[in-house]
Amino acid sequence: MYICNCRAVTDGAIRKAVKEGGIRRFRDLARSTGVSTQCGICAKHAKEEFDKAIAALPPEERAGNSLAESAELADEPKACAAGCVCTCGKS
Ligand code: FES
Repeated sequence: MYICNCRAVTDGAIRKAVKEGGIRRFRDLARSTGVSTQCGICAKHAKEEFDKAIAALPPEERAGNSLAESAELADEPKACAAGCVCTCGKS
């Protein structure tokens, strides 16, 4: 199922990026797949799918998702002035 129509990112692509690609931060998912980087409408749903994919990992594979990063994730996705999810790291 498409999660992001602008960038043609599916829920399967998000799960694969987490499980096989080692992605542990939503910002990195956005950079690697393009999800939520255009209109931003998909951001909430994409984050939910990302969180589910992280939760499905064995605990030892969530290592890159430390408490500090989890706190950071709580704030993500961040919409920039253009309404898309900002991946520049300056927001
Ligand atoms: S639907 Fe994902 S950026 Fe537009």
